[in-house]
Amino acid sequence: MPHDKAPIAVALDAPDVETAARWAQAVTPYVAVVKVGLELFCRTGPSVVETVRGGTGVGLFLDLKLHDIPNTVAGAAKSVARLKPMYLTVHASGGSDMVRAAVEAAPEVTIAAVTVLTSLGDRSLQEIGLAGPSSDAVRRLAALAVAAGAGALVCSPQEVAAVRAEVGPGVVLITPGVRPAGSDAQDQARIATPEEAIRNGADLLVIGRPITGAKDPGAAAAMIAASL
Ligand code: C5P
Repeated sequence: MPHDKAPIAVALDAPDVETAARWAQAVTPYVAVVKVGLELFCRTGPSVVETVRGGTGVGLFLDLKLHDIPNTVAGAAKSVARLKPMYLTVHASGGSDMVRAAVEAAPEVTIAAVTVLTSLGDRSLQEIGLAGPSSDAVRRLAALAVAAGAGALVCSPQEVAAVRAEVGPGVVLITPGVRPAGSDAQDQARIATPEEAIRNGADLLVIGRPITGAKDPGAAAAMIAASL
């Protein structure tokens, strides 16, 4: 990660590629990474990556949350590896063999495993057979993914300290649900400020609307970057 840039991945959750490119251009002087998610990737296709990168060398976080049989995930990981993302997400709940298949198929890419989606409450977890406190499932899935070669984990800022204790210092911990003090939580339930998230052990903060919803996304990114 470039050292002169803040450890922030700006979520480019834009309705169209032109908007995503405009946001990316505004924030790349200040942040190390931009994140392309399923919506934009499915609408625009792989070409969106070059469009948002725009020759700036900003790191790319491809948030596709792959989850399928190992052979299929390996094929998908290999297909997107040519886009040279810095991070590619897979679901840890796909199992060790699936995570390992992604790691082996895309050796130049850091595979980031999603433990438990923050949208899943205790009742939903019980429905899918993950009874018990979600923190147990998070720790179990984090350990499984790291043992299978994942170099990064996605977890909520509330979980980050427990996950760090579970997996040790070498793993990149990525946290969404980050809100600068005083800004609107929107639909994020378990939030922390950027400073708190870093203090708890996060390495990369995923921040979307507090930056992209600002009148001047570049200025918003610069302000949060300066607070770190
Ligand atoms: O706008 P906001 O800062 O809430 O954006 C957060 C980003 O992180 C979105 O792209 C969202 O899909 C993603 N994300 C999340 N919670 C997770 C995993 C990903 O908010 N558990």
